[in-house]
Amino acid sequence: MASQKKAIFTGLLIFISVQRTLSVSEEELHASYWNNKARQALHTALNVQPNLQQAKNIILFLGDGMGIPTVTATRILKGQLAGHSGEETSLVMDTFPHLALSKTYNVDQQMPDSAGTATAYLCGVKANYGTLGVTAATPRDNCNATYGNEVTSVLHRAKKAGKSVGIVTTTRVQHASPAANYAHTANRAWYSDAYLPSEAIQNGCRDIASQMVHNTEINVILGGGRQYMFPRTTPDPEYPTYKGDRNDGQNLVAEWLKNKKNAKYVWNKAEFDAVNPANTDFLIGLFEPKDCRYELERDPFMDPSLTEMMEKAIKILSKNPKGFYLFVEDNGRIDHGHHGGRAKRALYEAVEFDRAIGRAAELTTELDTLSVVTADHSHVFAFGGYSGRGNSVLGVSRSLAEDNKHFTTAVYGNGPGYQTGPRPDMNETISSDDDYHQQAPVPLSSETHSIEDVAIFAKGPMSHLFHGVQEQNYIAHVIAYAACMEPYENCELHPPSHAGSIHPSLLLLLMGLLLLSLCSV
Ligand SMILES: *[C@@H]1O[C@H](CO)[C@@H](O)[C@H](O)[C@H]1NC(C)=O
Ligand SMILES: *[C@@H]1O[C@H](CO)[C@@H](O)[C@H](O)[C@H]1NC(C)=O
Ligand SMILES: [Zn+2]
Repeated sequence: MASQKKAIFTGLLIFISVQRTLSVSEEELHASYWNNKARQALHTALNVQPNLQQAKNIILFLGDGMGIPTVTATRILKGQLAGHSGEETSLVMDTFPHLALSKTYNVDQQMPDSAGTATAYLCGVKANYGTLGVTAATPRDNCNATYGNEVTSVLHRAKKAGKSVGIVTTTRVQHASPAANYAHTANRAWYSDAYLPSEAIQNGCRDIASQMVHNTEINVILGGGRQYMFPRTTPDPEYPTYKGDRNDGQNLVAEWLKNKKNAKYVWNKAEFDAVNPANTDFLIGLFEPKDCRYELERDPFMDPSLTEMMEKAIKILSKNPKGFYLFVEDNGRIDHGHHGGRAKRALYEAVEFDRAIGRAAELTTELDTLSVVTADHSHVFAFGGYSGRGNSVLGVSRSLAEDNKHFTTAVYGNGPGYQTGPRPDMNETISSDDDYHQQAPVPLSSETHSIEDVAIFAKGPMSHLFHGVQEQNYIAHVIAYAACMEPYENCELHPPSHAGSIHPSLLLLLMGLLLLSLCSV
């Protein structure tokens, strides 16, 4: 009896392992599989019609540091987390019909940073490394030189055009990428007045948190960054030994709430969940003193996920009949994971980012909503080596290196993964740890950005304008043109029709009914 069971068990094991190999490759052995797949893609491509209407809504998804190698590794990870071999999986962004490459350099630097690049893709003008919302006539750190050199963002222009506007990020909301939506500053690190040098204070420059409250009126602000909003004397509600860091004694959250109707401040998940979008027009949610935690470490009872924050934002903003502009950043934490030389963190963040993009597609329609997914810059993250189909993204190469040791297929060109002495041998148990640093030949405490182009994925009204290889500041111009915002108020695009606000399937149904009634005449 026992031996019979054992035989069945062994048989099952063989079956499972055979199944696993077959399920990965059997159908792929036939030419028909690839021909049919390509034929379907061709059919889809032949039916792509440019949407020439004006965009009512704009959602800009910014994957901070999400270069093309990161996109590929994220796609495979997403597939592997769902139990597939991974390479054949599609990210949501992979399904967007229009694509371009973005040249990311800053005016004064070949290797860009998030501040100079955010000024380009949000304000339409390239800037210097480390500066926000100002032209390259402002050198970094020079407060005086900001005056007269300010450039305005598409968030600001959307607000001027009567739309509701919002920012959702898993970094601090005063971080470079979200901050270029509202701030003009010679240094991205001037988060609160405590960081302003005396020259900047003397010449009247204001910190980023203060500008967030006093520049453009923003309807929804969700992310981290409590610390920069409160005085030195105010203990943090979640970590009471931790205090605010403002020297000027201002409570900027109270300032923000002043003179706003239906406005709320929340700092934890329970308060966030209790916010009813139907009767809330302004929402500021700050869930950590600095950046939000990595998705891998998030406490789901204390902090909402990126997707949850984005969903609440869309529900509040979309009440405006003139539409909305929403900036969604996941995530500064892709960038931070890479800087830390820990690919697992960066890639899990990127999977969550793609989930948010998918959820946004369910809450909006591409008939009236222009969705753009891009990165500010890439990283020196590389992904290669001899790996079989379905090899774990965090796994090791099949063959050995010249030193007779294994190596991971994910590596960095520089960063904290450098080790003195002989390179240690590697196995998947070690390399799939959350805190594992992929090996790097150049010792740096923080891994660097890279210089290569990043992708722009787009769908919705006028998204076909994203084509070819473009300067990064082109992005803001397409967004402004598609929504007929400054300086393209005379764009002559048809305003979104009422059909635009109807779900596409309903539209098809209506057309069907119309045809039926015509036929029956
Ligand atoms: C900034 O401008 C003020 C007023 O014009 C001037 O007094 C000051 O010297 C300038 N500072 C710098 C660093 O250029
Ligand atoms: C991986 O390497 C570590 C350290 O050398 C070792 O302790 C562990 O047993 C190895 N695991 C496997 C599955 O080989
Ligand atoms: Zn970075």
